[in-house]
Amino acid sequence: MADPCTHLLLFGATGDLAKRMLLPSLFGLDADGLLPDCLRIVATARSGHDRAGYVAFATAALEEFVEVERRNPADMARFLARLDYVPLDASTPEGFSKLTPAVGDPAHLAIFLSTAPSLFGPTIAGLSSAGLAGAGARLALEKPLGSDLASSRAINDAVAAAYPEDRTFRIDHYLGKETVQNLLALRFGNALFEPLWNARGIDHVQITIAETVGLESRGDYYEGMGALRDMVQNHMLQLLALVAMEPPARFDPTSVRDEKVKVLRSLRPIDRSNVEACSVRGQYVAGAVAGQPVKAYADELGRTSGTETFVALKAHVDNWRWQGVPFYLRTGKRLPARLSEIIVQFKPVPHSMFGNAELEANKLIISLQPDENVGLTMMAKAPGLDRQGLKLRSVPLDIGMDNAFADVRRRIAYERLLLDLIEGKQTLFVRRDEVEAQWTWIDAIRAGWAAAGTAPKPYASGNWGPPAAIALTERDGVSWHD
Ligand code: BG6
Repeated sequence: MADPCTHLLLFGATGDLAKRMLLPSLFGLDADGLLPDCLRIVATARSGHDRAGYVAFATAALEEFVEVERRNPADMARFLARLDYVPLDASTPEGFSKLTPAVGDPAHLAIFLSTAPSLFGPTIAGLSSAGLAGAGARLALEKPLGSDLASSRAINDAVAAAYPEDRTFRIDHYLGKETVQNLLALRFGNALFEPLWNARGIDHVQITIAETVGLESRGDYYEGMGALRDMVQNHMLQLLALVAMEPPARFDPTSVRDEKVKVLRSLRPIDRSNVEACSVRGQYVAGAVAGQPVKAYADELGRTSGTETFVALKAHVDNWRWQGVPFYLRTGKRLPARLSEIIVQFKPVPHSMFGNAELEANKLIISLQPDENVGLTMMAKAPGLDRQGLKLRSVPLDIGMDNAFADVRRRIAYERLLLDLIEGKQTLFVRRDEVEAQWTWIDAIRAGWAAAGTAPKPYASGNWGPPAAIALTERDGVSWHD
């Protein structure tokens, strides 16, 4: 049960994330009776709203981002009554004292920084000086947590000076996704997979996060990061760690994160010596996505750029379990479909008794989005008299999560994460050593690219990246699962 007196202090409360995700998620939790009655949400941002102005902002956000049938007037009124607003320029120390009377006892305070990382340092300093860092206060931070290991360490040091690790909640919103947690259920709630979940049973793993969107309105941020740092450093490496980790003894923050960090530290470096063989950078040029013509990245940005909007990698986890098993990762913008999936390709049967019949090895397909589905391909006999020998075909064994759990509302990732923050549960948040191991691996790839002069290869929007991304797997006799 949630701490009955927790208050939530939300920085960046007029930003895009607050509007699209945080306010709708908090509303969803409240409507389902999951927030303690006395919880207040203290919103803060630079805009000079008064409380009524912020309530109007929040109402508009809910009207835009919560389905109309879930916007029951009584629920709306109760939720809006929880909101307070304190205008504050977090870049200067003045003004933080205004927060103190609004947030109640700092021992029961959850703080969410949904601001530019440049404001993390000043905000934490301001919170400390206002006495909002001690006791039980918890701090959640949104990405990007730095742009390399050194800047990430600087942020982590500033945080650690005010909030101990067991009260620091680093967000990777992929960990809040239902299907990502389902990966744990699948691996550790079933005896079926574990005996095969290693180099003896698995040929390779593919992880794809494909997006159809382009730069959107995030030019400055994205141009400075690129696909490797925007998506691989966090979401994709977290997915890889969940697929590859040893079974944790318990579903608790220490057990799960201890296992993940071991995987992250076992990633074989991709550096100058192997960067050309193990990575592909791409940048989209004009093309069409879902039948709609779209501009080149450089045209959206308004200048030429050496930033990658696509990356494909061949990674290895150097430990006993995974020796020799490639993990192929790819992510990009302006790809043909919005799709996130993990493919676990099992090895073929050691001997076929069916003569020439072609046998396809089993494949576990975990679709995270847009559909939540877990599928396993199996060989089955195709119906018929088969006078020339049995005909076999690969057929899917599917658990459509929407059908299996038709009566349960699907929650967006931030509902889970905000509730865990309010209740002080850290398992689905990223620990400092994980983030730093992730950056260590990513920095070596970037240094490798810089040393090798690897520029992004063009790909037409609406394609699966540059042809070199296909070649990356085909050299190993593997095709991407499209
Ligand atoms: C964010 C990235 O972390 O994740 C974005 O900054 C990306 O560039 C987004 O679009 C994808 O998240 P989701 O949940 O839509 O897959």
